[in-house]
Amino acid sequence: MKPVIKKFETPLETAEKLAEVICSIAAKKSAANNNTYIAVSGGNTPKILFNVLAEEYKEKICWEKIHFFWVDERCVPPEDKESNFGMTKKFLFDNVDIPEENIHRIKGENIPEKEADRYSAVLEKYLKFESGLPRFDLIILGIGTDGHTASIFPDQLELFNSKNFCAVTVHPESGQKRVTITGNVINNGARVVFMITGENKANIAAEIIKKKNGYEKYPSAHVNPLKGIYEWYLDSNAAKLL
Ligand code: 6PG
Repeated sequence: MKPVIKKFETPLETAEKLAEVICSIAAKKSAANNNTYIAVSGGNTPKILFNVLAEEYKEKICWEKIHFFWVDERCVPPEDKESNFGMTKKFLFDNVDIPEENIHRIKGENIPEKEADRYSAVLEKYLKFESGLPRFDLIILGIGTDGHTASIFPDQLELFNSKNFCAVTVHPESGQKRVTITGNVINNGARVVFMITGENKANIAAEIIKKKNGYEKYPSAHVNPLKGIYEWYLDSNAAKLL
């Protein structure tokens, strides 16, 4: 499935449009008296999105009806500067009234293999299942310049066929251990959105969207939510070669 490409001028505009999507999903689910289950990415790109949510949607979103999960986490304690949870807490959770019990962090301080099993059980506990897999209402992905997404790196494409919901991976450069959700869980999302900003992502975005020679080696090229909405939200710098 080809993603719907949505281009915006700036990272802020990209974040504002994505925040609107989150708000509208949450409003629809809440109107049907349901919670919203979102999996977010870490890294730097989502910081501006979390900032927009904290500043512009503090009162507009019913935070007690949103549950946050992660697509991946670095195997570090939550207070470590590398922690994806820690980043989200700083930019979002510390600034909105979201109940603790709605935040389902991957515990980077745990033994990775045990945490992958524990987090799989958390997904089973909270998420509805479709096609035998946990189904998020929204998954927000980032992309690395090497084409990775979540913490599925180019030498781990088999994680798009794994029957496990979570896996332990190793960052190919830093050697840092990660816990990640696997490709089938990503592709089972009801709405899967890449948020991509910055000129340094222009090449990888174009290689994948234009299916340039060898694009299949990139994990992000294997994101393909057959029963969901699939979109790329890009700023003009990231989209400049599209
Ligand atoms: C992580 C992320 C990862 C991220 C990409 C892009 O743990 O780092 O989940 O998949 O989305 O590496 O990172 P940037 O947004 O920092 O470019």
